[in-house]
Amino acid sequence: MDFGFGSVSKYTTIAIVLVILLSWSNFTSTEAYDPLDPNGNITIKWDIMNWTPDGYVAVVTMYNFQQYRHIQAPGWSLGWTWAKKEVIWAMIGGQTTEQGDCSRFKGNIPHCCKKDPTVVDLLPGTPYNLQIANCCKGGVINSWVQDPATAASSFQVSVGQAGTTNKTVRVPKNFTLKAPGPGYTCGPAKVGKSTKFYAQDGRRVTQAMMTWNVTCTYSQFLAQKTPTCCVSLSSFYNDTIVPCPTCTCGCQNNSTQPGSCVDPKSPYLASVVSSPSKNNYAPLVQCTSHMCPIRIHWHVKLNYKEYWRVKVTITNFNYRMNYTQWNLVIQHPNFDNLTQLFSFMYKPLTPYAAINDTAMLWGVKFYNDLLMQAGPLGNVQSELLFQKDTSTFTFEKGWAFPRRIYFNGDNCVMPPPDAYPFLPNTSSRQKISLLRLMMALLLSLAFFVACV
Ligand SMILES: *[C@@H]1O[C@H](CO)[C@@H](O)[C@H](O)[C@H]1NC(C)=O
Ligand SMILES: *[C@@H]1O[C@H](CO)[C@@H](O)[C@H](O)[C@H]1NC(C)=O
Ligand SMILES: *[C@@H]1O[C@H](CO)[C@@H](O)[C@H](O)[C@H]1NC(C)=O
Ligand SMILES: *[C@@H]1O[C@H](CO)[C@@H](O)[C@H](O)[C@H]1NC(C)=O
Ligand SMILES: *[C@@H]1O[C@H](CO)[C@@H](O)[C@H](O)[C@H]1NC(C)=O
Ligand SMILES: *[C@@H]1O[C@H](CO)[C@@H](O)[C@H](O)[C@H]1NC(C)=O
Ligand SMILES: *[C@@H]1O[C@H](CO)[C@@H](O)[C@H](O)[C@H]1NC(C)=O
Ligand SMILES: *[C@@H]1O[C@H](CO)[C@@H](O)[C@H](O)[C@H]1NC(C)=O
Ligand SMILES: *[C@@H]1O[C@H](CO)[C@@H](O)[C@H](O)[C@H]1NC(C)=O
Ligand SMILES: *[C@@H]1O[C@H](CO)[C@@H](O)[C@H](O)[C@H]1NC(C)=O
Repeated sequence: MDFGFGSVSKYTTIAIVLVILLSWSNFTSTEAYDPLDPNGNITIKWDIMNWTPDGYVAVVTMYNFQQYRHIQAPGWSLGWTWAKKEVIWAMIGGQTTEQGDCSRFKGNIPHCCKKDPTVVDLLPGTPYNLQIANCCKGGVINSWVQDPATAASSFQVSVGQAGTTNKTVRVPKNFTLKAPGPGYTCGPAKVGKSTKFYAQDGRRVTQAMMTWNVTCTYSQFLAQKTPTCCVSLSSFYNDTIVPCPTCTCGCQNNSTQPGSCVDPKSPYLASVVSSPSKNNYAPLVQCTSHMCPIRIHWHVKLNYKEYWRVKVTITNFNYRMNYTQWNLVIQHPNFDNLTQLFSFMYKPLTPYAAINDTAMLWGVKFYNDLLMQAGPLGNVQSELLFQKDTSTFTFEKGWAFPRRIYFNGDNCVMPPPDAYPFLPNTSSRQKISLLRLMMALLLSLAFFVACV
């Protein structure tokens, strides 16, 4: 190898940048917030609509202020602990999962006497007299970007044995939100300005007697989920298809867990598909080497003079799930010059105003917003056309592949970078290994300095 000092310093600079980037990305993965949606939260607002002889009636609304994370079936459940001896006389648009011990009541029996009630949404088709606006969707809430009109969920609660003025009422404590699993942490309730309600004709404004709200944030770290999706790659310039890493979401083990996955040719499949169990949400996946319910395939399809084209395919391997309102978040440096996109909806996400490298993609309503269960119809696809920026564009070193992909807010596992298809007849290998060497050197140097 012959390189002058000039190129060494260039590689050193790149290596330093890489080390910083790598440590940054490792760091953020355990943060309690999402770097691609730093302000994302679910806000739960309690509006006391009127006082009653022994308490109040409140409308509780959950707003999903997250850009791309939604709540899918079987939906949310919301718990809290009463500050005093409150009971719930009645509910509309929701119900508690348990009544608890109401034996001290005679005649009029409360809906729930538990100190720590858990509320769930009612199902679609609930009788009208038990409905309020934004209720009864089985606990499903859309993401803010995809459809703000369906990004909220409400229920009404009549509380007894509670304070009856804004001086004596006590806010509930210890809110817990499951969606449906763990992942959210909720802060304390904060009493704020009373909500104002505007009449539809705009001629009258009313307001709540009292309002408090609770903010819940999601952390992938807390959710501690095993991966649910993976990424595979291919390109026109190399016929290798890089598959999802083996055992990404589980391992196929016929001896210890027969039936953990389904062979598409097995007769058992017919019985699974013909009688989908309504309340079983545990995935039942097609047998693959990765065992993930969802695979995203990124294919670098064509190279034009000024543009290049990518095909993205999402495949559902789960026989038990139709994904409604699915979404993808993809990070790639060329998204600042996305020129055309076919058959998906698109919105750029710019969590850091200066960097425009992240896109949110989702299905077109009534066309492909439903990703059907595993089988011949279980996939959706799109093509993206990017304009090349000659100063950065290259097919080398895996540049044309995405940096990170989320499906429904869950991080999808990528193949290791050294497995990416590469251009034939280039010195990219050499450069990469040189970079590696530099990085290793730098890391050990940094370690040495830190130790001293
Ligand atoms: C929650 O999200 C809303 C909407 O983006 C934002 O106005 C609010 O400040 C956020 N709350 C917190 C505590 O981050
Ligand atoms: C409580 O009610 C009084 C009037 O009755 C009002 O002045 C005060 O602002 C209210 N406080 C809160 C926190 O709503
Ligand atoms: C808060 O709720 C959780 C789950 O319901 C429970 O485990 C915990 O003990 C509660 N903490 C307090 C202080 O009530
Ligand atoms: C929640 O309450 C806090 C404190 O009153 C207020 O600053 C914030 O704007 C409220 N958030 C929402 C979404 O109503
Ligand atoms: C399957 O499970 C058995 C028993 O736990 C183990 O010995 C074997 O290595 C596993 N096979 C694979 C392919 O993971
Ligand atoms: C499990 O069985 C399938 C087909 O029956 C086979 O293709 C696969 O290799 C087997 N896996 C293991 C780990 O033995
Ligand atoms: C998915 O949707 C199709 C068509 O609406 C339906 O036949 C099928 O039972 C659904 N599958 C599941 C698992 O809900
Ligand atoms: C980001 O790039 C897209 C695609 O070129 C463009 O439509 C959008 O306006 C850009 N957004 C910002 C904030 O620069
Ligand atoms: C790509 O997008 C950036 C930022 O939007 C813009 O400054 C640049 O001129 C674009 N490049 C091309 C080749 O369109
Ligand atoms: C395609 O990429 C793979 C690495 O993923 C490499 O092993 C192979 O040699 C490449 N093919 C050609 C023709 O360069």
